[in-house]
Amino acid sequence: MLIQTRRDGFIHPVASEITPRDTYLGRRDLLRLMASGAASAALASWASREALAQVQRPGKLAALAGGKSAVAGAVTMEKVTEYKDATSYNNFYEFGTDKADPVKNAHTLKTSPWTVEVEGLVKKPAKYVLDDLLKLSAQEERIYRLRCVEGWSMVIPWVGYSLSKLIEKVEPLGNAKFVEFVTLADPKTMPYVTSRVLDWPYVEGLRMDEATHPLTLLAFGMYGEVLPNQNGAPLRLVVPWKYGFKSGKSLVRIRFTDREPKTAWNKAAANEYGFYSNVNPNVDHPRWSQATERRIGEDGLFAKKRKTLMFNGYEAQVGQLYAGMDLKKNY
Ligand code: MTE
Repeated sequence: MLIQTRRDGFIHPVASEITPRDTYLGRRDLLRLMASGAASAALASWASREALAQVQRPGKLAALAGGKSAVAGAVTMEKVTEYKDATSYNNFYEFGTDKADPVKNAHTLKTSPWTVEVEGLVKKPAKYVLDDLLKLSAQEERIYRLRCVEGWSMVIPWVGYSLSKLIEKVEPLGNAKFVEFVTLADPKTMPYVTSRVLDWPYVEGLRMDEATHPLTLLAFGMYGEVLPNQNGAPLRLVVPWKYGFKSGKSLVRIRFTDREPKTAWNKAAANEYGFYSNVNPNVDHPRWSQATERRIGEDGLFAKKRKTLMFNGYEAQVGQLYAGMDLKKNY
């Protein structure tokens, strides 16, 4: 997220935000294949294999392999962001507001022992230890685009399973309409939770149908390994059709409620960060356009930006959740 540090509200990119252009051989091969008129089904399966083949386990953390996902839209043919970029350009304000802060500071986060309380309007509330959550369902690899509200995006191979698997287990009551996600706020290990940037803990929320949508991922790993601390270890949410801030990191509590949760960014600036925050190129942020984005690791500062896609490209899968809703009002 951007904090308004100047009167005119604009923040200029710093040198560390300028990433070198990366030529992608696979993309050229794909274009050649398209030119040859290959059938689109064959192309799609070739492209997903190609995307998966790019995923190389960096080998620094414990392995966490995921099987192939059968969820529609769970794999993209786009180039996967380099591991070093995805793990050194982060938003995790508990460890600092600069993109380079989390990788420097998040080593203090203690991820074991770790428990997650699932509570509120459910038949079977429970306090899960991490190992039990890990084993609750088979891990899958999903290659999702993550579009940050600030105008950059990445493509990350996550490992996890649909949040719906956990939701089924706790049996929500009929009056449960929303799910609130609360993330860790420990001043002993998170240096910035003593700052007043946000009203801690970081809280996010989803409507029940969004939370149970198969694309909504409870992620424990990325790039074939457990999550690095700066990316939200030991578990986080990934909601690929919403701006990145909806995907809370280092979750400690999941609460089912009948009221729309009061989320951290909405409390900080309600006119800028709505509850829905679906990626939408037609609805600008009050201080900047949302029509285009910069892909981290691919597009340098002077490179042409890419067009942002409705629902971040997941419209076929999630568009019907918002049928009849005014997306300008419900931003
Ligand atoms: N979760 C917590 N607890 N604290 C944060 O500051 N930042 C959000 C989201 N989850 C954030 C968070 C924002 S703004 C984004 S864009 C994504 O995490 C970034 O995830 P990444 O660093 O893994 O790319």
